[in-house]
Amino acid sequence: MQQQRENWGSRLGFIMAAAGSAVGLGNIWRFPYTAGENGGGAFILIYLGFVFVIGLSVMIAEFSVGRSTNLAAVGAFKKYNSNWTFVGVLGVLSSFFIMGFYPVVGGWALAYIVKSFTGLMSSVEAIPGVFDAFIGNPVEPLIWMLVFLALNIAIVVKGISGGIEKAGKVLMPLLFALLVLLSIRSVSLPGAGAGLDFLLKPDFSKVNGETFLAALGQAFFSLSLGMGAMVTYGSYLSREENLPQNAFIVTTLDTLVALLAGVAIFPALFAFGLEPAAGPGLVFVVVPTIFAEMGGLGTIFSALFFIALAVAALTSSVSLLETVTAYFIDQRGMSRKKAVYLMGAAMVVTNILASLSLGVMSGVTIFGAGFFDFFDILTDKIFLAIGGMLVSLFAGWVMKKDVLEKELTNGGETKFGLFNIWFVLVKYVNPIAIFFVAIAGIISITQTSLMIFGLVLIAALAIFSKKLA
Ligand code: PHE
Repeated sequence: MQQQRENWGSRLGFIMAAAGSAVGLGNIWRFPYTAGENGGGAFILIYLGFVFVIGLSVMIAEFSVGRSTNLAAVGAFKKYNSNWTFVGVLGVLSSFFIMGFYPVVGGWALAYIVKSFTGLMSSVEAIPGVFDAFIGNPVEPLIWMLVFLALNIAIVVKGISGGIEKAGKVLMPLLFALLVLLSIRSVSLPGAGAGLDFLLKPDFSKVNGETFLAALGQAFFSLSLGMGAMVTYGSYLSREENLPQNAFIVTTLDTLVALLAGVAIFPALFAFGLEPAAGPGLVFVVVPTIFAEMGGLGTIFSALFFIALAVAALTSSVSLLETVTAYFIDQRGMSRKKAVYLMGAAMVVTNILASLSLGVMSGVTIFGAGFFDFFDILTDKIFLAIGGMLVSLFAGWVMKKDVLEKELTNGGETKFGLFNIWFVLVKYVNPIAIFFVAIAGIISITQTSLMIFGLVLIAALAIFSKKLA
């Protein structure tokens, strides 16, 4: 007999969990530096457009694919049309690959909580060197990564309402409170105005094709779209939930947190005369520098910042682990426990490779990139956009319009006034827009062999998934 499928315990619990998935390193680590590198306010405007038009509509589509089938990514697509199974498989694979480097960065955040108290703040000049030495160290980051992965496993093994939902309900408000506190501190520094200008005054001279690419990639990554995570979370939703409304809330929360992270960082950064376009090192180098310059309570603020970062990362990585786990539960009939431990073990291996690729194994490349970059580029530049495009095509062309309308209005119980506009977006506008941006992204990959590998992999999945999954 089939066991009763798990469900979210409450609406708030689901929202906190889904927002927890969305709000992550993407918001606090990637958003600020991507905005910084792409002209600040102008980038943010384009980003907002992508988030609330393309991102939100794809999220609604993902929720409806998941809930209408009550199956996680692979099973959900398969149930409608087995030729589309590969979209789910691609999603599960993307989640697995993102989970190949995400815990490394999550571990860095944990380490920096402790480092805030153990000398990191004592010399401003030494901070960049500390970061470089730390991430290249063959032992220390591995230990923190393992701690971070262990937390993930401990949460996901407890299941949907008992683990993921509980964690989200505690951690998300904590994260929000920490960011508000940090933002207040940041804007109250003398000279903070220049940072607010940078965030709010768009400088369109910095905008080019790359900006759009960065904005769409960031929107998908930040909203956890294109890799089955929201399909999976949606599959545990009850029939009474209003999907468009929930998607709107989650999207808004994600955007608020990204902006809040910008407000926590840029005003302080300008106040101390630092560079906005500092790349991936921004939060691990520039942020500690800001707090060290602050003196006094700087240590505490630094620790709080990295607690916020670790918390954000944790609730996101949990959703990635769940997406992979749910495949084995739904499609392979595995117990949750077994699936989580098995995948957790596999992720230990991929993350060791990713972490070491930044140090002792930097000479080892796979398709022209180290392991960390391999996982990052493959997902960020190829899989996510193509995944998002396919989900949109699937909703628009494979699912029936009346089935969707029923799903999105709970059989007429709730209203979705924008249904027709949403449908046109999903059916025509998104696929075309995403297609162009995806092509531009794929072309921009400098490692040609990696680009070819990614595309061949997708083609192979499209051909073989039907039989294997
Ligand atoms: N949205 C997460 C972030 O912003 C990353 C993520 C992507 C999580 C995809 C789950 C699925 O960091």
